Parts: sequence; C-alpha cells; structure tokens
Amino acid sequence: MKIFSGSSNKPLAQKLADKLQISLSPLEIHIFADGERRVRILDKVIDEDCVIVQSCSSPVDTNYMELFFIADGLKRSGAKSVTAVIPYLGYQRQDHIFRDGEAVSLEVIVKTLEAVGINRVIVFDLHSVRIEQAFHIPLVHLSGLPLFAETIKRIVPHGSATILVSPDMGGIRRIKLLSGMLNNLSYAAIEKNRDLETGEVEMVGAQGLDNKYKTAIIVDDMISSGGTIAGASDFLKEKGIKEVFVFATHAIFSDDAPQILSKNELIKKVYVTDAVYVPKEKQFEKLDILSIAHLTAGNL
Ligand code: R5P
Repeated sequence: MKIFSGSSNKPLAQKLADKLQISLSPLEIHIFADGERRVRILDKVIDEDCVIVQSCSSPVDTNYMELFFIADGLKRSGAKSVTAVIPYLGYQRQDHIFRDGEAVSLEVIVKTLEAVGINRVIVFDLHSVRIEQAFHIPLVHLSGLPLFAETIKRIVPHGSATILVSPDMGGIRRIKLLSGMLNNLSYAAIEKNRDLETGEVEMVGAQGLDNKYKTAIIVDDMISSGGTIAGASDFLKEKGIKEVFVFATHAIFSDDAPQILSKNELIKKVYVTDAVYVPKEKQFEKLDILSIAHLTAGNL
C-alpha cells in the first residue's frame, strides 16, 4: 500500500502512515502564478493499492481539485486502486435542494470523485446519513463518537446532572448513539432555525431538557462560524445549565469561531478531531484535538 497526502492535512496523513508503519509517498504539487496546480506522482504505483488523504475544508475548491488531480495521476501511473480518505467532505451541507433553482453541489462533487477513478471513499461524521446514497462507489462512513465517548468517560462529569445536547434536531441520531455508548446518559435536542439568507441561527425550543441538569455536553458534526454552539450555550444558560463541554468532529472554524468559543464563559472545553487541520493561529486554550488516525488506519 502507498499513501499520498494532499496539502490540506499533512499531519493527519503522517500519523496515518506512522500507524501503518510506512512512509508517505512523494508527490510534487506545483502552484502556478495564476493559482493552477500541477500534480506529479513521484513513486512507482503500478498494481499498488493507493490511498490519498485530503480533507476538503477551506480552501474547499482548491483541495478538491488537488484531490482529483492526485487520483488522476495515480490512475494514469497504473495504480490498482485508489482510496480517498476525505475526513471532511466539503459541500456536504448542499446535499439537496433547499430553495427553487439551487444546485445540488454535493452530487457534482460525488460524480467527479467517481469520474476521476476513485474506487473507495472514507469519510467521518457526515452531516446527514442521506448523503451516503449519493455514492455509487463503496463509502466507509466512520465516526468520532467512540473518541468522544472515551473522552467523556475520562474527563467530563457525566452523572445524573449531566445531559447530552444536540444543538439541532438533525443531530438527534448522533446524540442517541452517543448516549448508548455512555450507559444511556440523558439527552435533549434544541430546535434551531437558520435564516438561509443571512446564516443567522435562532434557538426556538428544546425537547428533553429540564432544570435538574447543570452540565451540558453539546455534540455537533461541525463548527463553522461558531454561531450554533454559541446560540445553544446561551439557550442552555437560560435553562439553568452552569457549564458546557463541546464535542464536534469537524473544526471548520471559519470567521471568528475561535474567539466566539474562547470568550463564552459557560463553555469549559471544546473537543474536536484532526479530521480538519486546525492551524496554530486558530487554536485556543480551551481547545483539545483528538486524533482519528487509528480509526482510519483500521479501515485501510
Ligand atoms: C448544521 O446543521 C450543522 O450540524 C452545524 O450545526 C452547523 O453547520 C454549524 O455551523 P455554525 O458553526 O456556522 O453555526
């Protein structure tokens, strides 16, 4: 097996290679003055099973193009199979038509992954399980939940005053699964409305909450602007919650998310995974990054 890394998450690719006790294979990525990329495979891959590691977070389009070119280079160089490890599958929130006239961007991405000859895709914590149906090639859908359960058992108070909370109704399946891993810890889900024009979120109610709970563990698939987590924390404060621990697989961290999470006093810790690389300038004191490398390695 040969492992190649795109530019988006080399530390994860390196950890994965270390787990598998092989070296990362060499690859040249040249960036032209106009931003175009030229990819060249620098290893012998004839009849080899090859793996590409590329998280498709920001810059989303560039990271996808790089992935497509690496796959094409591998196929043209004789690779037997190509598995794309895409821990964060960009465009997954555009998996269906919300309003008339919209493109279904995720479908375009999936068609292209298939067209460039990728044989298998490994992803983490998709936004919705419906996304799996968009693929016609084998898809391995892994989850950070076992890592979260392990961390909660070790570090976070999880007695009768603690409740797991999904910040939106879409996350109810995720929260139920996690509750099952934690001796059926109580759970609740907040009803969130998002304005599709402005992106602003509003918390309008909740199912399963009452005032006996003092610690909330918010679990989400991703943190982008931080608006959902901040809104959920403010809502929980009004319901008598005294401390919040946050768990999210994908640390997209756009805009001011690190500051928003940092300055929220109710939030004690924010746990994310290395599915998306978090650069030093976006890390903050309360942040802890859990690695998905061993979960991925077990599926290669
Ligand atoms: C939305 O349904 C997702 O599960 C996340 O809650 C959302 O994408 C987080 O985005 P933001 O941090 O911008 O609120």
